[in-house]
Amino acid sequence: AIDISTLTRQSGYTALDYGFVNTASTKSAITYIDGDQGILRYRGYPIEELARASTFLEVAYLLIYGELPTADELAAFDGEIRRHTLLHEDMKYYFEGLPHTAHPMAALSGGLQAMSTYYEDSLDTTVPEFVEVNTIRLLAKLPVLAAYAHKKSIGQAFLYPDNDLNFVENFLRLNFGNMAEEYEMNPVLVDALDKLLILHADHEQNASTSTVRLVGSTGANMFSSISAGINALSGPLHGGANEAVLGMLAQIRDSGQSVQSFVERVKNKEAGVKLMGFGHRVYKNYDPRARIVKESAGRVLGELGVNDPLLDLAQELEQIALEDDYFKERKLYPNVDFYTGVIYKAMGFPTRMFTVLFAIGRLPGWIAQWREARDDAQTKIGRPQQLYTGSPERHLER
Ligand code: ACO
Repeated sequence: AIDISTLTRQSGYTALDYGFVNTASTKSAITYIDGDQGILRYRGYPIEELARASTFLEVAYLLIYGELPTADELAAFDGEIRRHTLLHEDMKYYFEGLPHTAHPMAALSGGLQAMSTYYEDSLDTTVPEFVEVNTIRLLAKLPVLAAYAHKKSIGQAFLYPDNDLNFVENFLRLNFGNMAEEYEMNPVLVDALDKLLILHADHEQNASTSTVRLVGSTGANMFSSISAGINALSGPLHGGANEAVLGMLAQIRDSGQSVQSFVERVKNKEAGVKLMGFGHRVYKNYDPRARIVKESAGRVLGELGVNDPLLDLAQELEQIALEDDYFKERKLYPNVDFYTGVIYKAMGFPTRMFTVLFAIGRLPGWIAQWREARDDAQTKIGRPQQLYTGSPERHLER
């Protein structure tokens, strides 16, 4: 890699790089990816090991603070998060003001900004204690906001968090519990969701994380930066793909067309027809997260006793695509989003909540990356150049 960041504006060098395919925007010690080998590590630990034997909160701690927590550190971290789960009571007016048709991703990013107005100390990013408490607030409260966005969309009353429950249990109860009866916890669901959150927890300089860092580079606080990251995540080429995959599978099922004929439409580059959940900017061999999710999809649906024809359809689609030269030549493989939607659906989440679940998973990564940039003396305001292609100087004829 060549470091041209020290060249001055006067040097005459401007690199044009649409989509930043070849441009590193920062150094980072958080996540390592080797796209050719299909390797993903958080702080050096392989994703496979973390998904098998750690918890989401441990991984959050690892990403944010650089090391796995000791038992005492984890207990303190968990305890702090549990103590901060309540939203300010007036936040109910925020949700009241939204239509029930509001997309939960919009409700989430707007809700995060609205919530930040209750925490004046979040505006001062120079005081380490303020950064710490707002780190905890974000981890504790974003899942509650997410669950309320869900409840709003189905017209059910919001539940208060139950701080005897752990992070994932609390989240599931807030989404699926109701006022009338005790929520029955399903350990299969808890375990599966915990693993999915781990798989999404960071992915170096992807579009939403780069957004968080870019917004943060202006001096904007964590709430504003992460709210912007949520908006970047919502697009169908990024986190929104998990919602789009289910839409695509349902469309194939309902249209009665064969999977093969759908694949032909993709290959013919018909407008708006893409194989959602396939392809990745960095992984050109396979996405290690997708492998874990695929195994998990079969197991979770089996354990929950759900028989979903969309899973069969996804498997058929994957098989056909993997054997097709179009996809082979372009090194297109299933990404993390290809099978997650089938699992979320089996858990009972509506399609429009899928990307929100991605956001909850990515939250520790966004926090860690925002903090790393804030602590890096080399961070400058992000300000790309452009190559101007417009009109030369001209004048009003009056
Ligand atoms: N279906 C069909 N063709 C595809 C797909 C796809 N999903 N993805 C890429 N291609 C084709 C492109 O048309 C292009 O073909 P060409 O060389 O004939 O023009 C070639 O593969 C290279 O693709 P690019 O668009 O240049 O690849 P890029 O790295 O810019 O895009 C992206 C990566 C956005 C992920 C893309 O593969 C895509 O749109 N995938 C579908 C959406 C998706 O699943 N997004 C989730 C990504 S993972 C995440 O955010 C968690």
